[in-house]
Amino acid sequence: DQTRQIAQTLAEFRLSKAQLLEVKKRMRTEIENGLGKKTHDSATVKMLPTYVRSTPDGTENGDFLALDLGGTNFRVLLVKIRSGKRRTVEMHNKIYAIPTEVMQGTGEELFDHIVHCISDFLDYMGMKSARLPLGFTFSFPCYQKSLDAGILVNWTKGFKCTDCEGEDVVELLREGIKRKEEFDLDVVAVVNDTVGTMMTCAYEEPTCEVGLIAGTGSNACYMEEMRNIETVEGNEGRMCVNMEWGAFGDNGCLDDIRTQYDCAVDENSLNEGKQRYEKMCSGMYLGEIVRNILIDLTKRGFLFRGKISETLKTRGIFETKFLSQIESDRLALLQVRAILQQLGLDSTCDDSIIVKEVCSTVSRRAAQICGAGMAGVVDKIRENRGLDHLDVTVGVDGTLYKLHPHFSRIFHQTVKELAPKCNVNFLLSEDGSGKGAALITAVGCRQRVQEA
Ligand code: BG6
Ligand code: GLC
Repeated sequence: DQTRQIAQTLAEFRLSKAQLLEVKKRMRTEIENGLGKKTHDSATVKMLPTYVRSTPDGTENGDFLALDLGGTNFRVLLVKIRSGKRRTVEMHNKIYAIPTEVMQGTGEELFDHIVHCISDFLDYMGMKSARLPLGFTFSFPCYQKSLDAGILVNWTKGFKCTDCEGEDVVELLREGIKRKEEFDLDVVAVVNDTVGTMMTCAYEEPTCEVGLIAGTGSNACYMEEMRNIETVEGNEGRMCVNMEWGAFGDNGCLDDIRTQYDCAVDENSLNEGKQRYEKMCSGMYLGEIVRNILIDLTKRGFLFRGKISETLKTRGIFETKFLSQIESDRLALLQVRAILQQLGLDSTCDDSIIVKEVCSTVSRRAAQICGAGMAGVVDKIRENRGLDHLDVTVGVDGTLYKLHPHFSRIFHQTVKELAPKCNVNFLLSEDGSGKGAALITAVGCRQRVQEA
C-alpha cells in the first residue's frame, strides 16, 4: 500500500507524449504572442530583441573585457580575438564570489561590488590604464532598444537588488565605474547568457543558431526573421531573440501539469508567481521540488521513520551537484546513503531507494518539458524557412546539462521525438558565454566606426 501511494504521488510527474506535445504547442502560442505587436505587452514569454543580427563570421578582432553575471559564477574576463587565416581566441578570467547579502541588497552595493571585482582583475592583468571595450553578459530579462542599453524587466533566480528593475543596467554599471574613479571602460554591449552561448558555439560551428541554458535558470534564444519580430522596425534579415522562456506558464497555461509541490516551491521563492516553467526545469529549483516531495512523504510516514529533520526543512540543500550524485548509476545505494548523510539526513536502505526514485522522476520531467519547449523552437525556425526538414545546431551551457547524469540524454531524446522533422545537433559550450559577449562587442565596435 505504501509503495502504491508513493507511486501515485510520483505519477503526477510522469507526462505522456500527448501532454508533452501539448507543452510544445503552448510554447509555440506563447512565442507568437511575444513576437506580435498587439499581443507583446501582455505576453509572458517576452521574446526580447537583442540587436544581434548575425552569428560570427571570423572577421572579429581586438582585445575585450567581458563580465559574466547571473550564473553559478561571476567572472571577469579578458578575451583576445585575432581574425585572419589562423583565427585565435585567447582568454584569461577570474571568478569572484557574490555574497547573498549583495545579491539581495541594494543596486548600488551590487554594482560597487562588480566594479571592485573588475578593478581587482585589471590590477591582476596589469591593464588599468587601457580604456577597453566591454561586453556585459547579464543573465536576466532586459528590454533592449540598442546593443548597448538594457532595461532590467525583473530580477529572476537568486537576485533581488533594490532600485534596478526598470533601470538601464549599462548605465548602472557606468555609474559604478564613475563612483570608483580608478579606471575607465567603454561598455559596448549587454548580452543575455543564452545569446553569449549561441555566439560562442557559432564561432566554431556556423550552423549554430540557437542558444540554450539549462543551469541555475532555464532559457533559450534563436535567430528569428526580422519580419516576424513586430516589436522592432524593419523586415530584412534576422535578429537573435532572447525568449525568456522561464516565464512560460506565468499566465496559468501550464496549471494542468503543475503539482502541489511545484506550487509550494513557487510560494517559497523570491519571485512568487513568476518563472513557473523555470521552476519546473532548472537547477535552482529541482532540488526544492525534491525536498518538498520528501517532506510530504515523510509526513505521511513513508520516509525517514516519519521524522522531519531540521535539515529537510532547510531551503536549497539539494543542489544540482547532489542530485547529480544521487542519480548517478555508478553509485551503489550505500553511497547514496552516504550523500544523504553528508546532507545531514539519516536514511535506511529503503529510504535511499525512494529518494533516488523521487530525484529521477523530477529530473526526467524537467528534461522532458525543456525538450518540449526546444521542439517548439526548432519547428518554428523550420517553418520560418519553409522547409520540410531542418538541420540546426543548438549551443548549450549550464550546470544541469553538464553535470546531471541523465538530463541531457532525456532532453535530446524528447526533442527528437517531438520535432521529427528537425535534425538537431547539440554543441556543448566549453568556453562559457564571455567569449560570445566579446565577439558581439567586436561587431558593436566595428559598427560604431562605420556609423561615425
Ligand atoms: C556559464 C556561462 O558557462 O553557464 C554563463 O558563461 C551562464 O553565462 C552559465 O549563466 C549557466 O550555467 P549555471 O549552471 O552556472 O547557471
Ligand atoms: C533566467 C534569466 C534568463 C537567463 C536564464 C539562464 O531565466 O531570466 O535571462 O538566460 O535564467 O541563466
